[in-house]
Amino acid sequence: MSDRLVGRVAFVTGAGSGIGAAIARSLSSDGANLVLLGRRRATLDETARQLGGASVSIECDVRSSESVDRALRQGLDRFERIDMLVNNAGIFGPEPFEETTPDIWDDVITTNLSGAYLWSHAAWPHLRETQGQIVNVSSIAGTRGFRGCSAYCASKFGLNGLSEVLALEGEPLGIRVFSVCPGSVDTPLWHPHSTEPERDRMMDVETIASLVLWLVTSDRGVAVQPVVITNFRDPFER
Ligand SMILES: NC(=O)c1ccc[n+]([C@@H]2O[C@H](COP(=O)([O-])OP(=O)(O)OC[C@H]3O[C@@H](n4cnc5c(N)ncnc54)[C@H](OP(=O)(O)O)[C@@H]3O)[C@@H](O)[C@H]2O)c1
Repeated sequence: MSDRLVGRVAFVTGAGSGIGAAIARSLSSDGANLVLLGRRRATLDETARQLGGASVSIECDVRSSESVDRALRQGLDRFERIDMLVNNAGIFGPEPFEETTPDIWDDVITTNLSGAYLWSHAAWPHLRETQGQIVNVSSIAGTRGFRGCSAYCASKFGLNGLSEVLALEGEPLGIRVFSVCPGSVDTPLWHPHSTEPERDRMMDVETIASLVLWLVTSDRGVAVQPVVITNFRDPFER
């Protein structure tokens, strides 16, 4: 437990499970106040119970600008500022390109890419005030193609492009923007699509959360390109 983030406020989308919940725990353990965002209230409250510090659970669907604007207002009402925005909410549904219907395509792109745009755009003026930071949870699938992941790869490549532009436009304003690109991580996202032996070979969520904590507490002079983090045991690498 450290206190580097005391007085800071982090908004984390998809904070009710997996990587988002781990990031929330990690930022909280360093003193940050947490705004936990997602569609399922019960899972957000479960994350809240795991935190040492103050937090608020707010239901939000990142696909809707009205929902994002309302959740931002509610979070600001509670903690009065935003210092860190973690765009982590995401969905994954591997299917061959031929089976990627327009509805599947829209849902993946709207959640994984437009959700990060909506949150970043709404929070931007507030992040200017606090000299804040954005962490986009992208994927190794945003750096190269994987069979059966056309919509997912497109969304994460797009997210990396958005991150790069926001990092450039944010720099003169004092806003830092990072993109984290994990390989396979053992989370509920994989449960319908993998076997237990495969999940045993994935990274754990704390590895990604530690990286995010390092990024947001790093020297402000440090500029970081998209960070690809994977392990040698990754079941889908070899
Ligand atoms: N696990 C991996 O191997 C891996 C690797 C690279 C990148 N990632 C990325 O890591 C991020 C987190 O995924 P995870 O692995 O931790 O899976 P997860 O446990 O399924 O978490 C995804 C979270 O996103 C939330 N979410 C989904 N759609 C949403 C929406 N429309 N509005 C608000 N929240 C929404 C979900 O909560 P609700 O359903 O309650 O809304 C859930 O808490 C994703 O962006 C994923 O692409 C994962």
